[in-house]
Amino acid sequence: MTDLLTPVLSANWADDRPWRINNYERRGGYDALRKALDMQPDDVIALVKDANLRGRGGAGFPTGMKWSFVPKDNPNPKYLVVNADESEPGTCKDIPLMMASPHTLVEGIIIASHAIGVSHAFIYVRGEVLHVARRLQQAVREAYSAGYLGRNILGKGLDLELTVHSGAGAYICGEETALLDSLEGRRGQPRLRPPFPAVAGLYASPTVVNNVESIASVPSIVANGKEWFQSMGTEKSKGFTLYSLSGHVKKPGQFEAPMGITLRELIDLGGGMRDGHKLKFWTPGGSSTPLLTAEHMDMPLDYEATAAAGSMLGTKALQCFDETTSVVRSTLRFVEFYKHESCGKCTPCREGTWWLVQILMRIERGEGVEGDIEKLLDLSENIGGRSFCALADGAVATVTSAIKHFRSEFEAGYTTPAWELFPYEKSALF
Ligand code: NAI
Repeated sequence: MTDLLTPVLSANWADDRPWRINNYERRGGYDALRKALDMQPDDVIALVKDANLRGRGGAGFPTGMKWSFVPKDNPNPKYLVVNADESEPGTCKDIPLMMASPHTLVEGIIIASHAIGVSHAFIYVRGEVLHVARRLQQAVREAYSAGYLGRNILGKGLDLELTVHSGAGAYICGEETALLDSLEGRRGQPRLRPPFPAVAGLYASPTVVNNVESIASVPSIVANGKEWFQSMGTEKSKGFTLYSLSGHVKKPGQFEAPMGITLRELIDLGGGMRDGHKLKFWTPGGSSTPLLTAEHMDMPLDYEATAAAGSMLGTKALQCFDETTSVVRSTLRFVEFYKHESCGKCTPCREGTWWLVQILMRIERGEGVEGDIEKLLDLSENIGGRSFCALADGAVATVTSAIKHFRSEFEAGYTTPAWELFPYEKSALF
């Protein structure tokens, strides 16, 4: 089974202190930077574009294309902001990556800054993960001392300052425009797009906001070339990626494999479902992505196949739930999260997520009233696509998909409490 794995980003995770710069360099770390600095910036952009690296933060937007949107004639400074505010429930790939190998990210940032024409880059890291912020700060200090950051990097004329900034622990600050507000010192709330950050972002200047994994993938593409990257994955979703496998599996964790691996293969890599139990439903990319069922286990995990199945690949956070799990209860837990994290800026999200929770709570108690399912669907229709950002879309994705696949469980909630149908002690998760 392990021949399905393609360790690139995770290749050094089991090394002795892989986060120290000398250990990173011993494995060829910063060689890609040397190569990139000998290339023209536009050639680096073309390489990432041609490799077809798609954003690993969830949306899958082509990374090289995003870089090429930065206007060359804008007199303002250009910024690169790495979104390290990983908070999507079930998603835990960027945090281990930054803990184990922060220099992969730092090297990617320097290469991307050279390509885009950036002289000040930021890493915006989630507030709760102080240990990650410290690890990043240590790596940045080491990179300055080694001459990879600062003035005239490696004597090639590139100047780059890199700042690590901790958020204050709000899920919404992972939304790129809320992140920029927060970085500017304001309360993190989403801005209307367009303009997209590539045109008007941090301090109203052209800004590329990229996920940690996307940027960390760049050094390997520079080192090995576009054909190497394209040799992995499916027709339109190329390369390797980190999948976060969690839930009722024997060995949850991070698995680095090509785009297009299936959930069945990943569960096998995770030692299988817990003994005597079967998969009931799962999320392809965290709780913001519509639920899928056991019938989708052999679907290739790429952007196209997940969309065709009515879901999305998102952050590749595969949360697996077995038959002991109440869908009503898990949906309620997910939506409670969104209700709590809604920033309150727009009415559909602020009010809508609250109402979804109220209705789901009474269905969970077995006190649902006739018409509640229709009310949930109607509310979802009036929230999804009508809010400022994707937070509310995530909240309704779980509701509508749960009803689509498991309507009878919601109907049972008109008469029977979920804890009678699915006793807590049988489920290790809810
Ligand atoms: P989006 O599809 O609106 O945008 C994706 C990226 O492409 C953004 O950086 C955006 O600025 C850029 N972009 C799109 N169209 C553009 C254009 N015409 N010109 C210039 N740039 C353009 O998606 P969004 O709202 O940024 O992110 C939603 C995703 O975030 C979801 O798919 C979800 O999976 C993921 N997510 C990830 C979380 C995490 O912890 N990693 C947390 C919550 C959601």
